[in-house]
Amino acid sequence: ETPIRVGLLGAGTVGSQTARLIVEQRDELAARVGRPVELAAVACLDPKETERFPWIDPAIVTTDTMQVATHSDIVVELIGGTTAARTFVMAAIESGASVVTANKALLAKYGPEIYAAAEAKGVDIYFEAAVGGAIPFLRPLRESLVGDCVTSMLGIVNGTTNYILDEMTTKGLDFDEVLKDAQAKGYAEADPTGDIEGHDAANKAAIMATLGFHTPVSIDDVTVEGITRITADDIAAATAEHKVIKLLAVVENGEAGVSARVYPALLPDTHPLAAVHGSFNAVFVKAEAADDLMFYGRGAGGAPTASAVVGDVVTVARHIAAGTTGPSIPLYKNLPLAPASAS
Ligand code: HSE
Repeated sequence: ETPIRVGLLGAGTVGSQTARLIVEQRDELAARVGRPVELAAVACLDPKETERFPWIDPAIVTTDTMQVATHSDIVVELIGGTTAARTFVMAAIESGASVVTANKALLAKYGPEIYAAAEAKGVDIYFEAAVGGAIPFLRPLRESLVGDCVTSMLGIVNGTTNYILDEMTTKGLDFDEVLKDAQAKGYAEADPTGDIEGHDAANKAAIMATLGFHTPVSIDDVTVEGITRITADDIAAATAEHKVIKLLAVVENGEAGVSARVYPALLPDTHPLAAVHGSFNAVFVKAEAADDLMFYGRGAGGAPTASAVVGDVVTVARHIAAGTTGPSIPLYKNLPLAPASAS
C-alpha cells in the first residue's frame, strides 16, 4: 500500500519527539489509519543537529525546506516564527498537502488566511498543539462544541509563567532563578521574553477567540500584560488573602462584542484554576448549553506537545486514507471587538 508521506519542518524539542513517535509507533499508526504513515523527510537548518536522535534516518534529512513543504502528503510545520513559516505553510497547501502545525504565533497572525486557503484547496489544517500542548482542547472547541454557543474562556495557557509563579509561591524563590530552571526543563521559548511578557499566551488567546467565537481575532486585538512586574511581595500579599496570582488568557463574547486579554489575575485559592500547578495548563470554558467545562494537562515540553502533533497527523492521515477532509474553519462572524476593560 502506498504510504502517506509526512514531511517534518523543524527538528527541535517538539520536532524530534514528533519524529520519534511516528517512527517508533509505525505499526500501530498504520493499523489505526489503515495505511502506512511514513516519516519521509525532515527539513532543518543544521542536519548535524539530528544526529543525536537515532530514530531519525540521516538519509531523509535535508536543508531544503521548500522541497519538503511541497512534496509531502502531510506537512508538519514546527519551525516557529511567522515569516518563513507562513511561506512554507502556504506553499504546502498550494501543493495539495494538508498541514499540521504547533505554531501559535503564525496562527494568531495569519490564521484566517491559512484556514481559508486550506478550505479553498480542500486540504486539512490541524493545530491541536498550538494551544495547551498535549491537552485535547482545540478539537473539542472546533468539533464537539460546534453545536453550542461558547461565551467565555479562561485559560492558563503558558507553562513557563505558571511554573515561575508557582515556584515563587511555594518555594519563595526569586524570578530569575526560576526562569533559568524553566528554560533548562524545555518549557520556555528560546527567547523567554515572549513567555514572561505574556505574548505567547496572547497568541493562544487570539486562536481561542477565533475558533470559539467563529470570528477573526488577531494577536493585534489582544491586550497584554505579562508577569515581569510581579514581586515576591505581591505573591505574599495574595497568599495572605487566600488568593493566587495566575497569568490568564481571558476571551469573552459578551454584549459589547469580543474581547481577548492576557494579564496576571488574582484568583481565590478555591478556584479550579488555582489548583493548576507547575507547567500544567488548563482552560475553563463557559458555553450556553454545556455550562462549565474544564480541560487540563501538560501544556509544554517535547513529548507532551508531540502527542498532540501526532494525534493531528493520524487524524489527517485517516482523512487522506478515506479521501475526505475534516471540518473547515468558517469565520462567518465579524463581531466588533470590545474595548478592554480595566483589569
Ligand atoms: N513556552 C510555552 C509555554 C510552550 O511555556 O507554555 C508551549 O507553547
